[in-house]
Amino acid sequence: ISSIYQLSEEQLAVRDAARDFAQSELWAGVIERDEHQKFPAEQVKKMGELGFMGMMVSPEYGGSGLDTVSYVLAMEEISKVDASCSVIMSVNNSLVCWGLEQYGTEEQKQKYLPRLCSGEIIGAFALSEPEAGSDATSQRTTAEDMGDYYLLNGTKNWITNGTTASVYLVIAQTNPELKSRGINVLIVDKDTPGFIQGPKENKLGIRGSDTCSLMFTDVVVPKENRIGADGFGFKFAMQVLAGGRIGIAAQALGIASGALELSLKYAKERKAFGVPIAQHQAIQFKLADMATNIDAARLLCLQAATDKDHHADYAKSGAMAKLFASKTAMDAAVEAVQIHGGYGFVKEYHVERFMRDAKITQIYEGTSEIQKIVISREILK
Ligand code: CAA
Ligand code: FAD
Repeated sequence: ISSIYQLSEEQLAVRDAARDFAQSELWAGVIERDEHQKFPAEQVKKMGELGFMGMMVSPEYGGSGLDTVSYVLAMEEISKVDASCSVIMSVNNSLVCWGLEQYGTEEQKQKYLPRLCSGEIIGAFALSEPEAGSDATSQRTTAEDMGDYYLLNGTKNWITNGTTASVYLVIAQTNPELKSRGINVLIVDKDTPGFIQGPKENKLGIRGSDTCSLMFTDVVVPKENRIGADGFGFKFAMQVLAGGRIGIAAQALGIASGALELSLKYAKERKAFGVPIAQHQAIQFKLADMATNIDAARLLCLQAATDKDHHADYAKSGAMAKLFASKTAMDAAVEAVQIHGGYGFVKEYHVERFMRDAKITQIYEGTSEIQKIVISREILK
């Protein structure tokens, strides 16, 4: 890590603990979980026990009380091995726990945070809909105000932890005439009558993570389950996503560094034309490009995390980190497959999975095009 960032003893210890956990507990079964779309239930439980599921939550609510820099370091290490585990971790930490701790009532925090942090339960964040992805203000799901409760109707799409979560933060429209200022965010428990989860999507990548649609039919949600004031839901979504994007940037960074580590090792071992392929300049240049982009991506991730830790504005730096790191992940993974030749095309060598997993980092928590909209709006202000 660049000497610009002087990591503290504590931050280095978190990084090392995440690295040890990923290498010893995630590496062995990762190919099988990917192949069979197997949710890493045991591994997530362990992540909870080790404090990785509520990293930034105050110890008062059962969290680890760490900073965003530590979170980025842990996300990178876990993503180097298993990006499915890291997206489960990312949604739980930066969207669900952070949102609840920042904006929830004392009662909501007490009720959900300790179990979310310990890994006993998992959270999900439901903004996207079949017809509202990038255009997130076009919410069709409605939360009709019925006095002391909301009546929730509609469909959410592509929800991470969709079948495995116990608690869902659901964004829905209450006052369409107020547009984005008429949207609310409601806490919905899994077993609430009228709430059903669709089947798991069969995905290109992050196959260990479960993604599904959610259907709400006349679901009664008590008013005390609303987070923040009436109409705060869209701002809530934007605020949590601003931080979430730092986590996804770190996920992309991890995929890229994992691809580089495997490529360096392979290039030194594999011989062609009498020498290790690492001695061919074409391979050296690929490795040099990968390493340079990875260092740049890491600096952007640490910059965004530091902005958040220092309470500076991080919407732009987080979007830049995600935009750049996700492209770095995609490019590095494609080159890693190339460096591995035919071996790169089969599952045992891991890099084909990195290539499939990398793609999602350019799509979720705002596509690369959306990150450019966020960045350009900020710099044109
Ligand atoms: N913080 C606080 N408020 C914000 C904000 C921010 N970072 N960004 C926007 N807002 C506010 C605006 O100020 C505005 O409020 P007012 O009306 O009170 O002024 C309101 O939100 C609406 O904003 P815009 O007018 O800018 O809305 P827009 O329609 O132009 O859309 C957008 C803006 C950035 C494109 C937004 O729709 C967006 O981020 N889209 C992408 C959605 C997304 O990222 N989805 C991810 C789903 S979760 C996920 O994917 C998880 C996973 O995979 C693991
Ligand atoms: P669209 O918005 O239809 O975009 C299609 C294309 O048009 C994209 O290339 C996009 O960049 C481009 N485009 C759209 N508008 C513009 C514009 N104004 N300018 C330029 N280009 C534009 N959502 C959740 O709420 N919670 C989750 O937990 C979650 N997890 C996910 C997990 C997975 C595996 C996947 C695939 C998605 C997940 N999502 C989740 C949804 C994800 O955030 C959306 O897929 C994403 O925001 C894009 O929305 P969309 O798919 O509707 O694409």
